[in-house]
Amino acid sequence: MTTRPRFVWGASTSAFQIEGAAHRDGRADSIWDVYLRAPGRVSHNDTADIACDHYHRYADDVTLMRDLGLDAYRFSIAWPRVLPQGRGAANEAGLAFYDRLIDALLAAGIEPWLCLYHWDLPQALGELGGWQNRDIAGWFADYTALVARRYGDRVKRFATFNEPGVFTLFGYGLGWHAPGVADKAALHQAIHHVNLSHGRAVDVLRRDVVGASIGAIHNRQPCYPCTSSPEDAAAALRLAAYWNDAFPFPQAFACYPPALRDAVTPYVRPDDMAQIGRPVDWFGLNHYSPHYVKADTNLIGASFGPPPQAVPRSAIGWPVVPDAFRETLVDIDQRFRIPIYVMENGTAAADVIDPAGDIQDDDRIRYLKAYITAMEQAIAAGADVRGYFVWSLMDNFEWGAGYSQRFGIVYVDHATQRRIPKASARWYAEMIAARRSPD
Ligand code: NOJ
Repeated sequence: MTTRPRFVWGASTSAFQIEGAAHRDGRADSIWDVYLRAPGRVSHNDTADIACDHYHRYADDVTLMRDLGLDAYRFSIAWPRVLPQGRGAANEAGLAFYDRLIDALLAAGIEPWLCLYHWDLPQALGELGGWQNRDIAGWFADYTALVARRYGDRVKRFATFNEPGVFTLFGYGLGWHAPGVADKAALHQAIHHVNLSHGRAVDVLRRDVVGASIGAIHNRQPCYPCTSSPEDAAAALRLAAYWNDAFPFPQAFACYPPALRDAVTPYVRPDDMAQIGRPVDWFGLNHYSPHYVKADTNLIGASFGPPPQAVPRSAIGWPVVPDAFRETLVDIDQRFRIPIYVMENGTAAADVIDPAGDIQDDDRIRYLKAYITAMEQAIAAGADVRGYFVWSLMDNFEWGAGYSQRFGIVYVDHATQRRIPKASARWYAEMIAARRSPD
């Protein structure tokens, strides 16, 4: 008799958004540190210098995770902490931090899921062109080998990239994220070099980690036209090509989707596509809401428009449409035919501490219930979904929104660094305990 593997319940974070200790123990700047120094780029000119100070508080944070009953925790390695110049000499103090974190997780019975890249490229590589420079595939492979050899005895779950569709489009196409480039050629170079780096990393992980389970984490959401005009319909298709397909498609099928082929082909060399199409073990999905898209004169001819009046929105203004999550999971299952892990889902909410010292984040509980129910409907419809990680374990640095948006199930008082589990944390813990399948 075959038994289904145990469903994995977890929480996700990323290095830049929680670690802080930006200048401690030999960490060098990432492109985000530098980007944030220019005024006006994020809400209140916040920086991530301190963030959640997780670098110093990781042990308490792991205790929180254990108390929640998490099976797994997804975090990322800060490349500029372990290889300050992006290549060359490794930083032992930085590497030792992740040893401590991984050992604490394992001691707490929590499986570490390690993401290699969650947007904090070493500035030294940024100065060499970052993802626009084809040499980065080799630098990324070397960085991957360092991480694989150091932690591969204890970590088996590896993700190469987090949301490549977002950081390439926002960082190189629209200029909204680090490094702040808005250029069509830069965008297409970055897309190809990230894909190539992914393929190189898959080979390194297979070579260096016995029993590695490898995936990439993709943002994927339906792109609906804002109106019935043919212009908006065409814009929705254009955005979807960049947002949804630029990475999963070539990584699965070893060719670019037709909508991007002409633009990316100038950067493709013989053998690249086979390298990019190396088989992986699972599809990591980040999903929050669908997009409503309108035609625009910007570089991709499309931008994010308002949802119809009737669609509810979260505190951050994102549409709340659980059915779109179910559709997305079923669609991924049918297209890619590999196990799916939901690596991010959650919502920002207007969290306040009440007089009793509690945070009654009922909006977030409602959102999570509706989205987890939608996931279960997708599973009932046959989608091979094997795990769910909430975004996020705790409030953190939300990129362009700084600290103004709270996504955590644990509240962080950014002045004191005090952690307070919200009502949603208690709800999540109880839900996990009730749903947990036997070993
Ligand atoms: C996507 C990103 O991976 C994560 O860094 C971000 O904080 C959340 N979604 C919420 O926007």
